[in-house]
Amino acid sequence: IGLPLYQYQGSWCHAKGIEAALSLQNHFHACDSDVILVTTPKSGTTWLKALAFAILYRHKYTFSQNPLLTDNPHDLVPFFEFKLYANNQLPNLSDLPSPRLFATHIPYSWLPESINNSKCKIVYLCRNPRDTLVSYWHFTNKARPEALGPLSLENGLDLFCKGITGFGPFWDHALGYWNKNLERPQKVLFLKYEDLKKDIKYQLKRLAEFMGCPFTMEEEKNGVIDEISRLCSFQRLSSLEVNKSGKSIDYFENRTLFRKGEVGDWMNYLTSPMVEQLDEVMEEKLSGSGLTFDMYPQL
Ligand code: A3P
Repeated sequence: IGLPLYQYQGSWCHAKGIEAALSLQNHFHACDSDVILVTTPKSGTTWLKALAFAILYRHKYTFSQNPLLTDNPHDLVPFFEFKLYANNQLPNLSDLPSPRLFATHIPYSWLPESINNSKCKIVYLCRNPRDTLVSYWHFTNKARPEALGPLSLENGLDLFCKGITGFGPFWDHALGYWNKNLERPQKVLFLKYEDLKKDIKYQLKRLAEFMGCPFTMEEEKNGVIDEISRLCSFQRLSSLEVNKSGKSIDYFENRTLFRKGEVGDWMNYLTSPMVEQLDEVMEEKLSGSGLTFDMYPQL
């Protein structure tokens, strides 16, 4: 996004993000009922925020009053590092609805102890690295200052393969949460963007169950799950006025959060040598972990 990245404890982040993470470590006290949504940038954060919000607070609003019909998901589910703990401020968390819903891009090893020690839950959403890279590259070029000039895809790929992306390396980030999910599946749910695209209904049931608010048979029969998936769909969210012209996070406009929302768009950008370069790094870094990705859309 045009801000310089610094390496801190093995991960890359802009200075304000590191500052915010430290403040979070020192001041945040997790409640057992908290739910924390985690992603690397461009893995579907906005979508996950909308889905978790819609599921968790579904009894609070009638359909026509749902804030997701008018507000950007980033205004409804605050990022620790871009909002709550940003700019050396200590947030007043008492106004947040209960159970509290937060989001972050920070790596597992940077999370405050109280998140680890409490019974609060973490939902991680991961996306295949080829689409994440392409999405990140587009986003970088939209968000970075003109004076810096555009970033070429070749350079974007090189940086990605070196692990130099916001909150990267991508593989360390994903593996941090992947391994926790294997160790403590009741603590960390690991979702994949491609699975959400493939079978949203099934994934929404998993998510609701994990967050402690499973759908009842009656809700399922009454189409509540379909309603939530429609409410949070790319088409619906990207066509909201607030997402065409509004701003939710300091650095960029909401419309930059919605581009294509597909699996496999990398095929339109990455050449075979580029795919090889990326795959080689991923194979090396992820080998033996059991973490794999779907790269192609379901036909
Ligand atoms: P593309 O650039 O591939 O289109 P993040 O929210 O983490 O910033 O991720 C942005 C990516 O998620 C973008 O991917 C964006 O289009 C996609 N996206 C945003 N909302 C979505 C939704 N409701 N469903 C599916 N994808 C969505």
